[in-house]
Amino acid sequence: MKNKLLLSLFPGIDLLGMGFEENGFCVVRSPDLITGGDIRNFTPPGSVFAGVFGGSPCQDFCALNRNPTGYGDEMLKEYCRIVTASQPKWFLFENVANFPTFKLEGYTQQRFDLDLSWFTEFSRNRHFIFGSLSGRLLDPIKGTRKSVLGGAVLGNDPRSFRACCDIQGLPSDFDIPFFSLSGKKQAIANGVPLPLSRYLAKLILRDYYREKVGFPDHQAKSLNRCLCGCGRIVYGRAKYHGPSCRKRAQRQREKSKT
Ligand SMILES: C[S@@+](CC[C@H](N)C(=O)[O-])C[C@H]1O[C@@H](n2cnc3c(N)ncnc32)[C@H](O)[C@@H]1O
Ligand SMILES: [Zn+2]
Repeated sequence: MKNKLLLSLFPGIDLLGMGFEENGFCVVRSPDLITGGDIRNFTPPGSVFAGVFGGSPCQDFCALNRNPTGYGDEMLKEYCRIVTASQPKWFLFENVANFPTFKLEGYTQQRFDLDLSWFTEFSRNRHFIFGSLSGRLLDPIKGTRKSVLGGAVLGNDPRSFRACCDIQGLPSDFDIPFFSLSGKKQAIANGVPLPLSRYLAKLILRDYYREKVGFPDHQAKSLNRCLCGCGRIVYGRAKYHGPSCRKRAQRQREKSKT
């Protein structure tokens, strides 16, 4: 890998970007409201960044939100505008389960989910779209939820700030100077827990860059991909990675008939 320059969109305090930095990438951060910027005023250079990643605001797409404002859609469009303008070799989008899927011209894409409980004893489910110009995709794990002690950090979390840092995978001396306690908790609650962002960076190194990385390798012998579009590799004559993939594909077929 020669070009290790990445652009982080909607970075907040960028727990997602930290996972990439820890794995040798150089991360440039676009403007964020919490540091007085606005993505709507941002124009990236073309063909400079190897990868673009980020998670736009998800409140509108949360299952419990009965009054979406339209802001989620607007910011999703901003994400797509910037990826299209910067033309990276790959992009990664992160959000909650219900975000509306999008397709960017020229990119081969997959959609998959990861849960923090596959890595630690706290749970948080996150959904991703990965796309690449070359057509090279990722083979993410499908873990199983172990017994969990609780959920990941929330904005108004009653647990102590130190406990919140620990749950999100941050070091014990982590701090955000000048933020109020509730502001600090909100900023880290917005973030992708570090065990997930580290895993994603390693996954991209292993499957996209074909580098040797330090987690168990389950490279495919045959490269058949699950027909649901999640991009996971299926073996032998299997068409789907599992029952949930089969159901998803069926829902997609039913939707396309209506
Ligand atoms: C889900 S958080 C991102 C968290 C980050 N990915 C991480 O892992 O730490 C979404 C971010 O989008 C920012 N945001 C919302 N509207 C924005 C806008 N118009 N321009 C720039 N940033 C915006 C919020 O301030 C928030 O930090
Ligand atoms: Zn699938």
